[in-house]
Amino acid sequence: MAGNWKMNKTSEQAKFFANKLIHDLAGVNFKVILCPPFVFLSDLAEILKGTNLSLGAQNCYYERSGAFTGEISPIMLKDIGIEYVIIGHSERRHIFGETDEMVNKKIKAALDDGMKPIVCVGETKEEREKGLTFCVVESQIRQAFFGLSKDEVLKTVIAYEPVWAIGTGIVAKPYQAQQVHKFIRTLLGELYDAELCQKISILYGGSIKPDNFFGLMVQADIDGGLVGGASLDDQFVELAKIVSRML
Ligand code: 13P
Repeated sequence: MAGNWKMNKTSEQAKFFANKLIHDLAGVNFKVILCPPFVFLSDLAEILKGTNLSLGAQNCYYERSGAFTGEISPIMLKDIGIEYVIIGHSERRHIFGETDEMVNKKIKAALDDGMKPIVCVGETKEEREKGLTFCVVESQIRQAFFGLSKDEVLKTVIAYEPVWAIGTGIVAKPYQAQQVHKFIRTLLGELYDAELCQKISILYGGSIKPDNFFGLMVQADIDGGLVGGASLDDQFVELAKIVSRML
């Protein structure tokens, strides 16, 4: 389960909430990843040291260093103890113009420097209405993983986040999400092999809330959630309890 805080919280709020989560999620026996804004990562890395919570960044650049004003490289993230990095989030793709080629370069750069990418894919409302969902997701997956070995892909996590479900309160119906998750798993089986498609984690993201999470989590190919709005407060703890009860 991962929480994408997006561009939210002050430093004090971030530290307070991280401490609360350390306490409230102390007993969970599955992976929980917090993805706060870059500026809070160092402080939270200190706070979360020795706990069962992991940290992820929300983005990175694909060069190691140099004249790239405003960018952060995977090696910088690694250096401060960050394990995961979200790559290709729909907000990066649609607001900041990230292309599939950039997503591929970022994944490669992150893997080269020992980070674990959380790779986001998903169709827009218009694409779904035109019946292009599988076509769009296939193209995003193929391009994201272009040139990557099986061992490299196994270090990644995939997040299916339909753009029309992100921040809209319109969650995908469990069967809709399951269809796409199964499609992604099958595609990876074709591109790599059966072992990879069994082992890789595919998270769902988009308007996850405590009242809809269980229905999604019971689907055969949904391995967890990438949570936006509901990761900012106590709903995140409720979501974790739902997962705990299922294990
Ligand atoms: P919401 O849960 O706010 O819809 O956001 C989902 C998301 O974009 C997580 O990366």
